[in-house]
Amino acid sequence: MPVIAGNWKMHKSGEDAISLARAIRTGIADGIHCQVALAPPFTALAAVANEIKGTPLILAAQNVHWEPKGAFTGEISIPMLQDIGCGMVVVGHSERRQYFGETDATVNRRVRAALNSTLQPIVCIGETLAERESGMHHSVVEQQLAGGLDGLTGQDLLRIILAYEPVWAIGTGRTASPEIAQEMHGAIRRWLSGKFGKEAQEVRILYGGSVKPDNIDALMLQPDIDGALVGGACLEAESFLRIIHYRS
Ligand code: PGA
Repeated sequence: MPVIAGNWKMHKSGEDAISLARAIRTGIADGIHCQVALAPPFTALAAVANEIKGTPLILAAQNVHWEPKGAFTGEISIPMLQDIGCGMVVVGHSERRQYFGETDATVNRRVRAALNSTLQPIVCIGETLAERESGMHHSVVEQQLAGGLDGLTGQDLLRIILAYEPVWAIGTGRTASPEIAQEMHGAIRRWLSGKFGKEAQEVRILYGGSVKPDNIDALMLQPDIDGALVGGACLEAESFLRIIHYRS
């Protein structure tokens, strides 16, 4: 089943978070044709969890540490996220890679830890504009896949969700065209298939980067696009609901 995930990034607290979650809950009351995840900041997880209890909405975190507990000031563990009701966690977002020192090796530690728990990781990959313009986009993405998914089995693969997010499309309004996105999604699936085998056909590969109400339908028509990771357009209920209720 396709997945539409809203990454709230460092937005919304208090009543704002609650009212956004409530509006989404109300907007899906008649049913959804995909899995929908909300990834508010850590401080709003509990309030959003309370708001979406008993609905099909899935609570997600934006990051997680790989150790279950210990002297890691400022970090949040998997048991903490499970305790609060998270079912998914975003791992290796390009903003974490760009500003907070995330590497393929730390992505791999987070993914493995999540796979040892009930949390489903949404693993983000994607090239920068310079990498695409110099023709390195495929090798960059393959390197991120090889490093981030190192040591995983085909069975593990079935539990992860991938998100291809070209950095040049994130927050820029410059979405990859459905054809450009499909081309990379197809390449990712071929790479997975070479490495893991038949499970690659089942993996959901989300597209992320300026997904909006007016481009979601065309993106979702592509054969290897299995959902979306949405930033800016998930902060307003109306636009996120339109994306959730995409037509294909
Ligand atoms: P955007 O962000 O939709 O604002 O481009 C997507 C993301 O970073 O996940």
